Amino acid sequence: MGVVVAQLVKPDLLDLPAGETTTIADAGWQQLEPIRPAPELSIVVPTFNERDNLPVLVDRLREVMGDTTWELIVVDDDSPDGTAEVARKIGSNDARVRCLRRVGRRGLSGACLEGMLASQAPFTAVMDADLQHDERLLVPMLAALRRGDADLVVGTRYAQGGSAEAMSSSRRWISRFATRIANAVMGLSLSDPMSGFFMLKRGIVEGLARKLSTQGFKILLDIVMTAGKTLRLAELPYQFGPRHLGESKLDARATLDFLGLVLSKATYDVISLRFVFFCIVGAVGIGVHFAVLLASFDVFGLPFAWAQTVATVVAIASNFALNNAFTYRDQRLVGHEFVTGLARFYVVSLVGMLSNVGVSNWLFSNEQTWWVAGLGGAVMSVVWNYVVASLAVWRSR
Ligand code: GDD
Ligand code: MN
Repeated sequence: MGVVVAQLVKPDLLDLPAGETTTIADAGWQQLEPIRPAPELSIVVPTFNERDNLPVLVDRLREVMGDTTWELIVVDDDSPDGTAEVARKIGSNDARVRCLRRVGRRGLSGACLEGMLASQAPFTAVMDADLQHDERLLVPMLAALRRGDADLVVGTRYAQGGSAEAMSSSRRWISRFATRIANAVMGLSLSDPMSGFFMLKRGIVEGLARKLSTQGFKILLDIVMTAGKTLRLAELPYQFGPRHLGESKLDARATLDFLGLVLSKATYDVISLRFVFFCIVGAVGIGVHFAVLLASFDVFGLPFAWAQTVATVVAIASNFALNNAFTYRDQRLVGHEFVTGLARFYVVSLVGMLSNVGVSNWLFSNEQTWWVAGLGGAVMSVVWNYVVASLAVWRSR
């Protein structure tokens, strides 16, 4: 690498009167910056409140990358701790470090995707800022891609030679459980599909970009599942270290989110991530309904019709609150919007219930099979609630 081409520019050259000659000095030719080609590797690092980890990460990258040309693209979601300023400060002395500051947006997958799309390098990697991913793996990952052994190399905690000792045993258990489900449902054989540490040919992301989800945390799994069987995968083990400074941003939602993604991919995107969340909330709502019904009928001795009404009112409110917190967390309603949203949600749900009764009665009069009629009515009301709530309550696309 290291091609240096001097560029000579004389802006008003074309305006010279015909026949007139000029010397280079007279004409004010000036020498501009050397032209530098893109590096071979862009390392995309999503950040949220990682101010103190970033300088350490950059130091380590400078140490391990050897003669590889690389750049670091920090994709920061407007962290309140000023991570973006720290990144830009480093970048002012080392142009290999760039910062993409996103405002009004949050989300790991979206951040990784935008970082990769900002790259012009032939290869791009994604890794965490908190030093849990071993930067020494980058060079062997790149070597595997250069040799053409694979299109995508995953850093794995769960293959021979890797370890996840730094994770709490409960998180390790959840992570393994979700891995098994993903492999079983999708017919994958990745030992660590939830890994946030991988490298691939940039062109692959370019091709898939429109089909990838910007919500959620599982960008790797999304890429692998969307690309399909033609993608050649390789795995390299590493030891997942403890977080350097600061705290983790991923919680139980990440796993729920992951399972939702598996489901939507398994159904060829017929069932969206949001719809999956909506159904999970609906299932929880049935539990709430029965708990309240039991309490008011059995424990407090309300007449059945009253107990059933109270249970319905409470279950709808709880569905609204859960959907607001999870399903539509990117468009969460707060303050007085929460109250008007709840009122709208009651109207939507009550119409949904009426349509449930109407459709199942109609099916029953034609079909005479009770469970077909019941199921038809239930499906009808869930789809209705979902579509209308998306339009009238949260106004999502
Ligand atoms: N831009 C942006 N936006 N970055 C984010 C966001 C966000 O909303 N949420 C988290 N990050 C960044 C963090 O700053 C960090 O650099 C990286 O994403 C990983 O977040 P952590 O909070 O450290 O995640 P973790 O260590 O709990 O989870 C690890 O294991 C998961 C699988 O179990 C990570 O390696 C994940 O990538 C991995 O999927
Ligand atoms: Mn981490």
